[in-house]
Amino acid sequence: LAGEEMKMSRLAFEMVKANALDTVTVPKGYNWQVLASWGEPLFSNAPAFDPATGGTGASQEMAFGDHNDGMALFTHNGRQILCVNNEYTNATTLHANRADGKPINADDVRKNKAAHGVSVVEIARKDGKWGIVKDSEFNRRITADTEMDITGPARGHDLMKTKADPKGVVAKGTWNNCGNGQTPWGTYLTCEENFNGYFSSSNKNLALTPQMKRYGISHDDRGYNWALADARFDLSKDPQEPNRFGYIVEIDPLNPTARPKKRTALGRFKHENAEVEVAANGHVVVYLGDDERGEFLYRFVSKNKYVVGGDNTDLLEEGTLYVAKFNENNTGHWIALTPEATGMTAPEIAIYTREAASKVGATTMDRPEWVASNPNKAEVYCALTNNKNRGVKPNAGGDETPAVGPNPRVKNNYGQIVRWQPANQDHTAEKFSWDLFVLAGNPAVYDDAYAGSKNVNKDNMFNSPDGLKFDKKGMLWIQTDGNYSNEKDFAGQGNNQMLVADPETGEIKRFLVGPKECEITGAAWSADRTTMFVSIQHPGEKGDSVWPNGGVPRSSVIAISRDDGEMIG
Ligand code: FEO
Ligand code: CA
Ligand code: CA
Repeated sequence: LAGEEMKMSRLAFEMVKANALDTVTVPKGYNWQVLASWGEPLFSNAPAFDPATGGTGASQEMAFGDHNDGMALFTHNGRQILCVNNEYTNATTLHANRADGKPINADDVRKNKAAHGVSVVEIARKDGKWGIVKDSEFNRRITADTEMDITGPARGHDLMKTKADPKGVVAKGTWNNCGNGQTPWGTYLTCEENFNGYFSSSNKNLALTPQMKRYGISHDDRGYNWALADARFDLSKDPQEPNRFGYIVEIDPLNPTARPKKRTALGRFKHENAEVEVAANGHVVVYLGDDERGEFLYRFVSKNKYVVGGDNTDLLEEGTLYVAKFNENNTGHWIALTPEATGMTAPEIAIYTREAASKVGATTMDRPEWVASNPNKAEVYCALTNNKNRGVKPNAGGDETPAVGPNPRVKNNYGQIVRWQPANQDHTAEKFSWDLFVLAGNPAVYDDAYAGSKNVNKDNMFNSPDGLKFDKKGMLWIQTDGNYSNEKDFAGQGNNQMLVADPETGEIKRFLVGPKECEITGAAWSADRTTMFVSIQHPGEKGDSVWPNGGVPRSSVIAISRDDGEMIG
């Protein structure tokens, strides 16, 4: 039977074993190389990367950002343009010249802000080696200081007005850009996740509103110190500035001077990624996760329809946002967040989306991470990465989080992947059916629910699924951002990893293991699909890695190919 199963498998590679090495491991017959690393100049007039200092504000503004995450590839007249998110920073390497990596002056803050955002780079393979095309007219850095238009229901609303922008129509910058999306009309979507951690208050007695608390905004930032050089990050000076972050931002990768657009119609929360589908009836559907314990899963449906070859530029400006309700009997439905249903105005729903979703009784989830839609049928997957807090401490400012439906385990250190099929294969349908594609676990330690589902065994086990992406063939790539201690509950699971799953059979095989203290995230393919690009984020986040070059650890995008040059994915 084992031989029969091997023959039947559509995952035709030799599974990589879990390991704790400080390198990237791929299957026999595959190879990898670094495409781009944090600090690499995009232009020939920018200084070379300096590991001793981590560079300056000016050098970082012309260089590849830190902590590369979600990405997408665009082609134009045979040229390949890669958009890559730069989520956050490794303080001790970025500020190698400062004690504890703490920004202490205006240029440190400028550098830190410039290491965030999005890097748009033309890439090419020359003599077998992938790299950035320096000085390409497409190369662009979008940072925490890039001006962008606020569009949709929140545009111009009183809650969006600040000292610097009294009309509430132009926001400065984007940061903590986690996962991404890609539209059929050729734009890139970048998703603002933990935007809250950059705000602080010089007045420690400032009263925080319930809405600030619901979004995790507090008197102290997470060590970025941006308020030191930019007063808009001081809550006591501009308390409404945080209302302008936590959105999906749409970028035209082929037009480096075009202003990015914040799409407030897609709601404000800790956005993971944005999976775009065109429904059979032509409406554009975007699936969206809010990565926080006890928060929700969302769906946007555009008001207007996608027209092939038409002007689709503002489809994400207007539509209806829905939130998911899962029932115990494997059914579920989408609840529209309308003024009637929530008692809130349309701008308030766009700005305080979490509150709107609570009002309609949506299902609290175990940290919704990436959503991925099956290209072969109407079926959608979401990684619910873990939830270590259930039954330990209450969800801050949110709803109760009972262990029910797609979140069945009380203490959930391992995570799971839920999938659903919209009724009548229609992505705009109200109803859906759902099941769990996999419950991660450790069958070497447990023999109960914490061993995981049937498609998890001692050879392919993992924890904390995060990145999800379907390839063209319809195989689901699963990337982890979890516990890499390799001991106790996580013994035998090694470093963070990437696996591939067959959605039809449930089979899961480990394809890649990352270096020490990294997470694996983001995936894209070259135009000819012979190369797969993957983000290795924060190697050595606690100091124990010299990947990739034997020196300062650097987040990098890698390029994976087959030795025989055949297609991958
Ligand atoms: Fe940025 Fe939810 O990972
Ligand atoms: Ca993630
Ligand atoms: Ca993550």
